[in-house]
Amino acid sequence: MTFLNVEPVTFDHHRDPLGIGEHAPRLSWIIQTDIPGWLQQAYEIELSDGTSTGFVESGESVLVPWPGEPLGSRERRGVRVRVHGADGSASGWSPWSYVEAGLLDPADWQARAAAPPWDLLADSDGPAPLLRRDFTLRGPVERARLYVTAHGTYEAEINGRVVGDDVLAPGWTSYHHRLRYRTHDVTALLREGPNTIGATLADGWYRGRIGFAGGRSGIYGDRTSLIAQLEITYLDGTTDTVATDSAWRCAPGPVTAASLYDGETHDARLLPDGWSEPGFDASTWLPAEVLHHDTALLVAPTGPPVRRTEVLHPIGVLTGPNGETILDFGQNIAGRLRIRVQGPAGHTVSLRHAEVLDNGALALRPLRHAAAHDRYILRGDAEPETWEPRFTVHGFRYAQIDGWPGDLRHGDVVAVVCHTDMRPIGDFDCSDPLLSRLHDNVRWSMRGNYVDLPTDCPQRDERLGWTGDIQVFAPTASFLYDCAGPLKSWLADLSAEHRRHGTVPVFVPWIALEPVPDVLPTAAWGDAAVVVPWTLYQRTGDLELLREQYPSMSAWVDQIAGLAGESFLWDTGPQLGDWLDPTAPPERPSEAQTDPALVATAYLVHSAGLVAETATLLGRTGDAARYRELTERVRAAFDTVYATCDGKVSSDSQTAYALALRFGLLDGAERRAHAGERLVELVRANGHRIGTGFVGTPLICDALTDAGAVEDAYRLLLQTECPSWLYAVTMGATTIWERWDSMLPDGTVNPGEMTSFNHYAFGAVADWMHRTIAGLAPAAPGYRRFVIRPRPGGGLTHAGASLDTPYGRAEVSWKRTGDQVTLVVVLPANTTAAVHLPTDPDNAIEVGAGRHVFQCVPGKAAL
Ligand code: BGC
Repeated sequence: MTFLNVEPVTFDHHRDPLGIGEHAPRLSWIIQTDIPGWLQQAYEIELSDGTSTGFVESGESVLVPWPGEPLGSRERRGVRVRVHGADGSASGWSPWSYVEAGLLDPADWQARAAAPPWDLLADSDGPAPLLRRDFTLRGPVERARLYVTAHGTYEAEINGRVVGDDVLAPGWTSYHHRLRYRTHDVTALLREGPNTIGATLADGWYRGRIGFAGGRSGIYGDRTSLIAQLEITYLDGTTDTVATDSAWRCAPGPVTAASLYDGETHDARLLPDGWSEPGFDASTWLPAEVLHHDTALLVAPTGPPVRRTEVLHPIGVLTGPNGETILDFGQNIAGRLRIRVQGPAGHTVSLRHAEVLDNGALALRPLRHAAAHDRYILRGDAEPETWEPRFTVHGFRYAQIDGWPGDLRHGDVVAVVCHTDMRPIGDFDCSDPLLSRLHDNVRWSMRGNYVDLPTDCPQRDERLGWTGDIQVFAPTASFLYDCAGPLKSWLADLSAEHRRHGTVPVFVPWIALEPVPDVLPTAAWGDAAVVVPWTLYQRTGDLELLREQYPSMSAWVDQIAGLAGESFLWDTGPQLGDWLDPTAPPERPSEAQTDPALVATAYLVHSAGLVAETATLLGRTGDAARYRELTERVRAAFDTVYATCDGKVSSDSQTAYALALRFGLLDGAERRAHAGERLVELVRANGHRIGTGFVGTPLICDALTDAGAVEDAYRLLLQTECPSWLYAVTMGATTIWERWDSMLPDGTVNPGEMTSFNHYAFGAVADWMHRTIAGLAPAAPGYRRFVIRPRPGGGLTHAGASLDTPYGRAEVSWKRTGDQVTLVVVLPANTTAAVHLPTDPDNAIEVGAGRHVFQCVPGKAAL
């Protein structure tokens, strides 16, 4: 008896489709079946309003256009689907899934920006005031939605209960252009009669200090405000709206200081009992001031919010050199502590955070101007008090606890991991524990660096959306997590900043900071405008995303082509180059071995080529021809200027060859072969230690593999001496470091400024591990077709990867026994694959959905 079922439909890239911003969300569904090779021939979609597509002959099951009337604001629609196979099979209906639109029209917003008066504010990162309003419900409620955002960061409460589980809402977008609001179903928090809504409002990114070199405060404004609209529908169909306005009242709260970098101080004695519940006497509270805000900037989220995703208990209690109590959580994270403490009123517990220890004490220097210091002042209750800061986040593994009253017991202090709550989709495992740990470290660095936006690091005074970092990491990021929704939001910011500044900033959202107050085009960083959307298209099949980003993608290439001018070489302006290659001096990270102009010109070829392909996909044939020609001209210029006739490339560095080979910059198979040989020679001469920075690192293992030197790629990856990927692992790293030697072999912290222990860029090699060690790669956008080409090596006895693709779960694993390799491939319905066996990598075997086992014996055909 076979089965054929359709999972509930999903909408665009939403994890929870409540309050979405699309009028016509695209639909995707996953088919579960045990029918081998199953392919969809047709589908039928039914909407809860009675719309039906009837039988649509189509194999599409991912991001299928919305088939009904567009959604209006607040409108909710159910969707279900059934499918027919090419083999004549037919499924039943999927379960219904429901989507609900948010406020799609700026005119839907009645909420004003309610701002605590000046008297309740101090310098930035000071107190977080409370705002509240009582209201009465006329009867039983059928449904209630809270549409809410802020200038600042907020936590909302209704009748004494926190609304939702978002952390650091509304997150950080380019506030000049876009401010995300959230929709919460708050029906269950309301009751007939008196009710109260309130919020705590901190400065966050809007008014707080952000940025490096000391940063700046008040970048977006000097006043925080809450924008909230509670819409109530009664059982009798009538409605009421409670929105922020001058009727809201404000007072100081228990949070006396809150800074993203410096930490939070909470004086529990100052918490007014029952302040967000009816019956509270707010007569002394001050009225909120109403400020102007532009409702046209309000946008619904395209991905999940930041949430608490895991709780870690300490693995050890250490004593510092001066007798300090230091907890070791065993893992470097982005998050904060939660404490359970009992003691006298007014007593202060102090919590400091660091990623590593230096001579047994917290290493605070790498944090630069981020104090990462939380303080809790006890209320003095008879019962233990529980507290977790709400308006800050730290990057740490170790925490120093000072002033703990009494004995610190197990469970009194835990670490709460916080980041954008993306769905984990990809995994990797192998027989080498160090390599498996490296992969875990990559995942942890992704988690640590996705606190609402893709950042460089979570601990020091930056945490900015550095474009180069996500540019190189995007293929790995999109394998580990379903990050299309969050990255779509960030790309919308990138486009907005691009339009405003006329180039792609090196970080997005852009904030002007010394010593880089100007927005300057920078290779490999600005190329995020092209590479990130392209990568997401490859991994999700979302062509509309390319369409949305196309103006920015093409404008970037036009701009840098203009800078290259008639020479077709981009050799002007400051560049970051192959940032942080191991030869760059600690204080001068851009002084790498590879000529920055070579890097810039190579990236121009790469991006122009991707824009040409994008233009073709979007049917812009004129553009496609123009960008193809540009690509060819810049490539030819690169080849002439940077490569010799026998394939030797200027700079003669690992990165120069990796770029030339992976970006297809050299003419002629023989020259390419020579370049490959030279790369292998360099890698061997360096004792299989890494010689690349941000630019070369994601490419080098692929370049070696293409050059027929997969074993050298393995030796590079499995190297444990400094500099290498596994060096950090042998030094106890639990995340990817910013520089190869963030910690020096003698256990001391690198004296350079750029010494973070949580930067994902060098973790970009995980993409090679997925595609080449495990052999799981897309051959068509969204993994509608796979290329399965594992390359066992490096002495590994088994390896495997799994991925929840848009079509369903795919798995590849291999196991070596003697000279025989058993390969197991599992493909989801409605996909196909070309399988290249390790024993015969140049030929492909065609397979479809289902489980396939291949016994590969050297010299024999597959069994
Ligand atoms: C960041 C990097 C970034 C770089 C470029 C650093 O401060 O942490 O990851 O890409 O600057 O200048």
